[in-house]
Amino acid sequence: MNEQTKLPNDLDSFWMPFTSSRAFKANPRLIAGAEGCHYIGTDGKRRIDGTGGLWCCNAGHAHPKITEAIQRQAATLDFAHSFGQGHPIAFEAASRLVSMAPGFDQVFLTNSGSEAVDTALKIALAYHTARGEGTRRILVGRQKAYHGINFGGLSVGGIGLNKGQFGTLYPDAQHMRHTKLPENAFSRGQPETGADLADDLQGIVDTCGAHRVAAVIVEPVAGAGGVFPPPLGYLERLREICDAHGILLIFDEVITGFGRLGTAFGHQYFGVMPDLYTVAKGVTNATVPMGGVFARAGLRDAFLTGPEAMPDLFHGYTYSGHPLAAAACLATLDVYRDEGVFENAAAMAPAWEDMLHGLRDLPGVVDIRNAGLMGAIEFAPEGLPGDVARAAYAKLWDLGLIVRPIADSIAMSPPLTITEEIIGEIGGLIRKAVAG
Ligand SMILES: Cc1ncc(COP(=O)(O)O)c(C=O)c1O
Repeated sequence: MNEQTKLPNDLDSFWMPFTSSRAFKANPRLIAGAEGCHYIGTDGKRRIDGTGGLWCCNAGHAHPKITEAIQRQAATLDFAHSFGQGHPIAFEAASRLVSMAPGFDQVFLTNSGSEAVDTALKIALAYHTARGEGTRRILVGRQKAYHGINFGGLSVGGIGLNKGQFGTLYPDAQHMRHTKLPENAFSRGQPETGADLADDLQGIVDTCGAHRVAAVIVEPVAGAGGVFPPPLGYLERLREICDAHGILLIFDEVITGFGRLGTAFGHQYFGVMPDLYTVAKGVTNATVPMGGVFARAGLRDAFLTGPEAMPDLFHGYTYSGHPLAAAACLATLDVYRDEGVFENAAAMAPAWEDMLHGLRDLPGVVDIRNAGLMGAIEFAPEGLPGDVARAAYAKLWDLGLIVRPIADSIAMSPPLTITEEIIGEIGGLIRKAVAG
């Protein structure tokens, strides 16, 4: 038994994120190792990682090329900050990232998706200030949206349970309606109806005045709120309204970035260009924390009008461009390119969709949603909110598949290296768990 597989004797000191500590301690589920599309538990059992680490490990787990790059970098330059000085590997990583995103010039590096979202919102506010439009202070989000848990992202986020404990957040946040419509249940990919829900943004403009609206942020495919692909035409309509009123369009691509939909980024899949977009997770295959905000070509020019000695933006993290994260990023991007990881995601998407929708006959299933290699199965509620999905999660863990319970749905986002065989196994395990 090595250090990793030893059971900790203290399960109390680590205050776990988004976790019921009492439920966890009553039945601790512990992971000791990982390989490709599988996790290995402290019980020695191999389980399919149906969540890709939590929308993260697109190249599969423990890829040797990424591991080696991190090890090498730790021994060469462990850390240097980027406040007014620099180190080459951060520039190299930023340049590689931007080269994957035609139409975008810069990327501001952060350490997580939450930081990326708050950075994007602050860039939007500062952009309008720099151009003499400082009245634009309203940030628009959407119901059911998840934009991380920092103050800005939480303010524009649309999951009430995540906000209830914290009172007033950013005071000028407004929300559009979510895009979950009953008539769209069991849509394969993008639902047919609901593009007009984007007109909620026009409604906010009509009520508040365009001169007060700074930005609107949406996930191209809402993920952590339950997997909701955008209705056909919806993102295009948001773009039109933003253009008509000088509002910045921000896509939160923390999940849809790096191949989840079969293209490098979600905006490329949908053919709609945002002004800013966030990434995290897959940018380093989640090996070393990193996030970022991409800025549309020319956007930063607005920040270059002040005295030359002053920072463009009064914002940054000690670890922005961390050398280990930059090394992990470069190695990850090599793997994505050299091993055709995004291409595999695109090739597997039809089998993924067929597998999910083939489960429609299972008892209690009321909706199935999918986009690229994302998917969710929603059950009729039973007991407390989320009970039915937590029960499915627990059964599936025991059977050998890890999914993510979200409200009354189980969500999945496997590594993009998945095979048809593993997709088939996932379908079989869900059928066994739900059909009994
Ligand atoms: C769309 C989106 N934005 C932001 C975040 C927050 O990222 P992090 O947990 O790295 O802060 C997430 C996390 O799942 C996400 O899905």
